Amino acid sequence: MNASCYIDSMDNVMIDTLLHYNTNAPRYTSYPPANLFRPAKDKVQIERIWRESNALKPYNVSFYFHIPFCSKRCLFCGCTSEVLPVPEFRDRYFEALFSEMDEKLPWISGDRPVTQVHFGGGTPTSVPFDFLKRILAKLRERFSFAPFAEIAIECNPSSISEATLRELAEMGFNRVSYGIQDFDFDVLRNVGRDPSLLPVKELVALSRDLHFKGINLDLIYGLPSQTEDAFYGSVEKAVDADPDRIALFSYAHVPWLKENQKILEKLPMPSPREKLGFFLEARNRFKEAGLIDVGMDHFVKPSDSLAGALSEGKLHRNFQGYCTRETTGEVYAFGSSGITQLDNAYSQNVHESEKYAELQLSHRLTEIRCEELSPSERLIRDVIERLMCNRRLQVTDEEKKVLGDGWTRLLALEEDKLLVKKSESYVETTELGTLVIRYLAMQLDPLMQKNKREGVFSKTI
Ligand SMILES: C[S@@+](CC[C@H](N)C(=O)[O-])C[C@H]1O[C@@H](n2cnc3c(N)ncnc32)[C@H](O)[C@@H]1O
Ligand code: SF4
Repeated sequence: MNASCYIDSMDNVMIDTLLHYNTNAPRYTSYPPANLFRPAKDKVQIERIWRESNALKPYNVSFYFHIPFCSKRCLFCGCTSEVLPVPEFRDRYFEALFSEMDEKLPWISGDRPVTQVHFGGGTPTSVPFDFLKRILAKLRERFSFAPFAEIAIECNPSSISEATLRELAEMGFNRVSYGIQDFDFDVLRNVGRDPSLLPVKELVALSRDLHFKGINLDLIYGLPSQTEDAFYGSVEKAVDADPDRIALFSYAHVPWLKENQKILEKLPMPSPREKLGFFLEARNRFKEAGLIDVGMDHFVKPSDSLAGALSEGKLHRNFQGYCTRETTGEVYAFGSSGITQLDNAYSQNVHESEKYAELQLSHRLTEIRCEELSPSERLIRDVIERLMCNRRLQVTDEEKKVLGDGWTRLLALEEDKLLVKKSESYVETTELGTLVIRYLAMQLDPLMQKNKREGVFSKTI
């Protein structure tokens, strides 16, 4: 594949520098990173951390529901997803999910307002909507929803018709995200993906007419068989469709974890240099189109709430992506692989849906991991999040003390032109530093420095 007719010499210098910093690092959607969480002990531990969370901040509540099913498996998929099982097993999964809600919702104080509900997967729209309605009804029985609450759903556009979208709006959904991946039919066919049922521009306009906000399109760069021309054509089409947000993901090829990806090895794969070229050129085009780069791989319109949160220093980040501090509370997750994200702890359910259903329906522990954070781990998490969301960092004397060598390591990156030291306690990242922000965050992370706990991480870009 010919890499470079779109890349100018400035970008080539940037690519060389970025490749230099392209080490393996956590994504820091949590701290500590999820694959370093310790094993869960017992149900008593889980009930205790949920109950204790009522007295912690933020007071508002977010919910995450994992619906692992899809009508078919895309060959590139790296998510925790599985092909829709026979109806009996699908029903059993939901029986377990409702049972998990009945058991755990009473642990959360009913006075706390719900500001966010997120349905992810898998493809939550691949199951009969009665299941989703029952989940929302159970929440409404116990909690009040804030007037500005975000009720979000991840959709595969290949199965979204106008009628489906209207039904979702009637059910109360007001945020929607579509997995477009690529607009090129050849690439989609090669990676086993059906195209959008409606033209994407129409789908976005219809979503807007139905009052969905934060309308998001996912694109992936570096997919097998993607060419420069085809990919930049997709970038143009994504901009032309006029969404509020675009998430531009780097294709994660992990065939040792995801068997379905093995078959893609027969296809030409863009090299790391070519992938970076795709990313930088797409980023240039998004910026030319007036989109704002809110961080790592997310681009939004200036009118979107994430752009406002970035400029006000209220951007937040968790396993569901970028969000605002106003709408994101402590996150309580239900369903297989769901990660609960509290102020003082994280826990994660078992990944396999069958195992999850068996454990929940026999009233055993569904969590495989539970990480309770010490005060210094909470402080490090907060500092890393501030750096990653704000691109600048002011630390207190107490934070400097806890960070120890980490702060010195970060300051040393001024020499590499990744940041500018404005004072002994305040740094701002450069454009280059912002592109390798995970590398910067890693300097503050004691777990990464001393191999205190072992984990496998993807490249920083
Ligand atoms: C749960 S899916 C979104 C909803 C729906 N299942 C769909 O595919 O449209 C989440 C997103 O993860 C991204 N994704 C999946 N596999 C990936 C991979 N191997 N590398 C990078 N991104 C990936 C895709 O952009 C996808 O839209
Ligand atoms: S990319 Fe989306 S639709 Fe495709 S298998 Fe993965 S989760 Fe399912």
